[in-house]
Amino acid sequence: MIQKGVEIPNTFRMKVKADYFVEYDSEEVLAEIDFDALPKPHFHIGCGSNLLFTGDFHGTILHSGIKSIEMNRDADGVVEVRAGAGVVFDDLCGWTAAQGLWGLENLSHIPGEVGASAVQNIGAYGVEVKDVISSVRCYDILERVFVEFPADECGYGYRDSIFKHQGIKGRYIVTAVTFRLSTEVRPRLDYGHLRSAVETACGGSHSGSGLPEGLTPSLVREVVTQIRKGKLPEPSETGSAGSFFKNPVVEQSVYDSILKAIQEESGAEAIVPHYPAGENQVKIPAAWLIEQCGWKGHVHGGAAVYEKQPLVLINHSGHALPSDILELESMIIDSVRSRFGILLSPEVDHL
Ligand code: EPU
Repeated sequence: MIQKGVEIPNTFRMKVKADYFVEYDSEEVLAEIDFDALPKPHFHIGCGSNLLFTGDFHGTILHSGIKSIEMNRDADGVVEVRAGAGVVFDDLCGWTAAQGLWGLENLSHIPGEVGASAVQNIGAYGVEVKDVISSVRCYDILERVFVEFPADECGYGYRDSIFKHQGIKGRYIVTAVTFRLSTEVRPRLDYGHLRSAVETACGGSHSGSGLPEGLTPSLVREVVTQIRKGKLPEPSETGSAGSFFKNPVVEQSVYDSILKAIQEESGAEAIVPHYPAGENQVKIPAAWLIEQCGWKGHVHGGAAVYEKQPLVLINHSGHALPSDILELESMIIDSVRSRFGILLSPEVDHL
């Protein structure tokens, strides 16, 4: 169960090792671990899809191998699915879609595991996983008990939860997540071109309810997967951690002055993409800011800015060093700050 000097799995494909690596495959085995005896620091990972290891890890990496999936249906068409933290999130999306359940289909093809999805509140195509989480089961390593957090006590925000915050982080290990899904047709198609892509995939005809004919969660999942494959690097081919930066939220006045400057530069028709983000606040896509600063496709050592989606930094050569990514990150942050006065913050955790 305890291995020494193991290469740490990470989707960026950084060649880094952990002094100690512990994997457990059940809650019973987790509860028996003597945490005091494991070299510190301790860090729990999923499949390392949102992490940048900046060097070897001198401590203990833990990983859940809990891979159970259980389902409970009630009479109203609401179905609760409880998945172990070690289930590959996309496998769960495929499994629930195949059961005809709505809720996870827009989150298809996101790398990572179920436990990390609930910590990070992953999101895509207008859905955040918090929208369908009903509770998160954790092991409290301090009190040595299992605790169930209802979703409304998880402090969910954009790519955020209490499990990422000081005092909680490191204390609770997610062992399972319960999702509330539905057998009723409940598509969420209002993000970007998703609706038109789904309509095309359905052959263009509509049912009486106005929804595309033949709509199933599996079909939406297939369309989302194809969109992601067209825009994002394929994890099996290119190392990356998905979006490297968060989309910044700024005051309306900051957006107004950026728009004014862009229109002075490029003409009155020029636009700055943005989405409402609460009173007097707007979210500007980091991809747009980075592209405006000329980074798209830029290669730095073994790393690069992905040419189809500049929010993603990639292990371009396959042999990128952590320092290649770190240097690229800080050059991008500096240039976006000096051109737009906006401080980008990474979505990816650095270790
Ligand atoms: N854009 C550009 N240039 C580009 C690409 C995008 O200017 O080359 C601008 C466009 O205005 C576009 C906008 O950015 O409309 C948004 O692009 P996109 O729809 O690709 O989404 P995003 O905001 O860049 C977020 C998530 C992704 C998720 C997509 C789709 C974050 C940090 N990222 O990206 O999540 O797949 O929406 O829902 O919120 C991830 O977290 O790893 C991830 C890939």
